[in-house]
Amino acid sequence: MTGGLGALGLVVAGHLVDRGARHVTLLGRSARPESDAAVGALRAAGAEVRVVAADVTDRGQLAAAVAAAGDGHRLRGWCMRRGC
Ligand SMILES: NC(=O)c1ccc[n+]([C@@H]2O[C@H](COP(=O)([O-])OP(=O)(O)OC[C@H]3O[C@@H](n4cnc5c(N)ncnc54)[C@H](OP(=O)(O)O)[C@@H]3O)[C@@H](O)[C@H]2O)c1
Repeated sequence: MTGGLGALGLVVAGHLVDRGARHVTLLGRSARPESDAAVGALRAAGAEVRVVAADVTDRGQLAAAVAAAGDGHRLRGWCMRRGC
């Protein structure tokens, strides 16, 4: 999830874990120590949470992040833009 360490991202991640997601990758350009507690809560709820540092505007970084997220798991998601 891009922006997964941000305010909205952590709310959506919590929603996904509540709905049964067990493998979640949260993506941001930098570490956000203020998100540690929320990430810990997701893990305590039973999810394997990976935090990946990547800039989605950098094709190489994004490709590496997608490859890492799919490691051993089927990558799933959705796009909120009409037509995706
Ligand atoms: N919170 C609200 O009530 C609200 C309401 C309406 C709309 N929005 C919009 O929804 C979006 C998210 O809001 P938010 O409150 O969750 O913001 P936020 O707390 O600042 O979180 C944004 C997240 O996106 C990451 N990010 C930004 N650019 C990135 C990039 N190029 N590659 C990878 N990660 C990137 C940031 O991490 P890094 O900076 O470390 O990369 C951060 O984790 C914003 O566009 C905001 O304008 C928010």
